[in-house]
Parts: sequence; structure tokens; C-alpha cells
Amino acid sequence: MSTLEWQEARHALSAGAMDRAHKEFVDLTNQLAEADAASEEKRLALLLAHCEDHFAQEQEWMQRSRMPAADNHLRDHDGVVALLHSTLAELRAGRRGAGREVAESLAAWFDHHSATMDAALALHMQQSAPKTQDGIPAVG
Ligand SMILES: [Fe+2]
Ligand SMILES: [Fe+2]
Repeated sequence: MSTLEWQEARHALSAGAMDRAHKEFVDLTNQLAEADAASEEKRLALLLAHCEDHFAQEQEWMQRSRMPAADNHLRDHDGVVALLHSTLAELRAGRRGAGREVAESLAAWFDHHSATMDAALALHMQQSAPKTQDGIPAVG
């Protein structure tokens, strides 16, 4: 059973590259939730690497589209990255199951974050011109 189910009507934000990143987040979170002891650390590290890229990309979009009040959004991302780093340290210290537990809490986090902060960013990008085909503001 998946921890986090992609729901097109709820999670798709009509911003191609952002939706692709979010689907990957959903997949990696589910893979971590279903990890066994042998794969838990590797799957957590993959999710952490994904989050660092995903959040850096959103930060670039915020800057490029001159998104106002981006600080709260960036702090929310930073909290997740810090949580994943500390969970990885716990796992490496031998606390098995820490990765699977964090996957459960990230599922609830994503459902809220995508519907609020990411939705606001996607809307802002759609309203700022010019854009690429992906709905992402062009550089410049
Ligand atoms: Fe996102
Ligand atoms: Fe975000």
C-alpha cells in the first residue's frame, strides 16, 4: 500500500517541471516507506538528494519570477532537508525504521505543502511572463 498517493486533481499544479518533481517525490517517499532494513538507508539518501534538487529548483523559480514573500516557503524546505539529514544520521547510528517513519510524516507534509506554498508558486509563475512551454518563466 502506498503511503502517499498521487492525486491528479489535488496535486497537479499545471506547471510541467514542478509536477514531474512532485511525482518523483511521491515515488521516492513511497519507496522509502516500503523499504526493508537492507534498503532503508539507500532510499532515504535518494529522497534527500531529490529534495535538495527539487527545492533548489523551486528557489530558482522564486527568484526568476520575483515571487514575493518566498522566505516562509524556503524555511519549510529547509526544515525537511534538516529532518532528512538528522534521520539519515539516526539510521546510520543503528535506529532501524527511522527512515520509514519519516516517510509517513513527509506524506502529510507534502499534501499540505503542495496545496499551499507550491500551488502559490505555480500560480505566480503562470501569471508572470514570458514563459517556456513548461509553464516556467523564461530566464531574463
Ligand atoms: Fe515542490
Ligand atoms: Fe515547495
